Amino acid sequence: MSNSTQSTKSNIAVIGAGTMGSGIAQLAILHGHSTILIDSNAASLARGKELIFKNLEREVQKKRVSKLEADASLELLKTSSALADCANANLVIEAIVESLPAKEALFAALEEIVPTDSILATNTSSLSVAALAGKRKFSARVIGMHFFNPAPVMKLVEVVPGALTDNAIIASTVALLKSWKKTTVIAKDTPGFIVNRVARAYYGEALRIAEEGVKFAVIDASMRAIGFKMGPFELIDLIGNDINYAVTCSVFEAFYYDSRYRPSVMQRRMVENNLLGRKTKRGFFSYETSLEQTNTSAQNTENSDTKISDRILAMLINEAAEALRLKVASAIEIDLSMTLGVNYPKGLLQWCDELGAEKIVSELQSLHERYGEERYRVSPILKDLIKTNLKFH
Ligand code: NAI
Repeated sequence: MSNSTQSTKSNIAVIGAGTMGSGIAQLAILHGHSTILIDSNAASLARGKELIFKNLEREVQKKRVSKLEADASLELLKTSSALADCANANLVIEAIVESLPAKEALFAALEEIVPTDSILATNTSSLSVAALAGKRKFSARVIGMHFFNPAPVMKLVEVVPGALTDNAIIASTVALLKSWKKTTVIAKDTPGFIVNRVARAYYGEALRIAEEGVKFAVIDASMRAIGFKMGPFELIDLIGNDINYAVTCSVFEAFYYDSRYRPSVMQRRMVENNLLGRKTKRGFFSYETSLEQTNTSAQNTENSDTKISDRILAMLINEAAEALRLKVASAIEIDLSMTLGVNYPKGLLQWCDELGAEKIVSELQSLHERYGEERYRVSPILKDLIKTNLKFH
């Protein structure tokens, strides 16, 4: 391309052509960026490229994108298995495997390849931006850009500056994502950022209830009844028990084994037994024949003093309140994150405002009394709300 016709839009390199990388590359080309999708594995690269072609074909069929637009977008896409091919990228978004050594090695290599003013973004779900930026020469231009799956569809992106990230880099990252019609929230570089931290309670508390013998389907139904699109178990089956368990373990460890995030032995056994969910045809439910519970021996011993959904919701709200207290994000951003990132029916802090903090505190206190466990400690911010008669919003 000659200089006179060169686009002012940044050249983008997406590293990792899996589920997330291919989705992000699709977004980039649809918004007019010359994009190179790089993967070290040739088969994954071919799969990623094919997925983008198929997705765009479907967009054309559904008349969401014109044929002309789709063809022009695909013209902007290049693929490669050589990292050196991202040498002219102004923005690199990495979406490789979730492994600190792998990502560290990638960032060290990128440092030698890309221009010194390029932004280096990571789509990591559970590693810290600090761990990737700290050792680098270019730590000021490293930033977290956490998309949700499927990246072309989900509106939310958590932007996670590290302590050393330049303000100008934060501003241009947000501006770029806005130009892609994304809603951005700025999350502090803390374990799980906003969504993966707050959502732990959804799975964690549900698993504890199930361990006491309540059927998965009963728990799912209870959460659907208050507006969640999917109950915790059908959702884990969709995500994969292995992935969901790994995220929980990582958040638990990163919080120095705070019991609020403790993983479940039941879930660990499911992973060990390769009962991963839909992808192995068996998880909490069976997908081999008709939808059938795998814990058929479970008794429905729901606690008489708490309704399932009250208990899980109280834990979710408590976690959202803690995220606010610890300045992970603002109340508005925390609520937006859960509604746009994981389709919760309502922002959790808004929900607390509607139910009243007293109800949530009393639920948590009765759980604390029953189990005597630290995990049920009440967020000081909820106590403050009661004292001051204020609301989150
Ligand atoms: P994936 O397993 O579908 O894709 C990863 C790709 O990276 C593979 O194609 C693999 O060949 C490639 N790869 C591995 N090491 C590489 C290297 N050194 N250089 C180049 N390519 C390499 O994984 P997925 O699900 O797309 O996740 C990618 C990242 O996005 C992870 O950090 C994950 O935590 C994060 N993430 C995943 C979400 C999800 O729902 N799957 C949501 C948000 C973030």
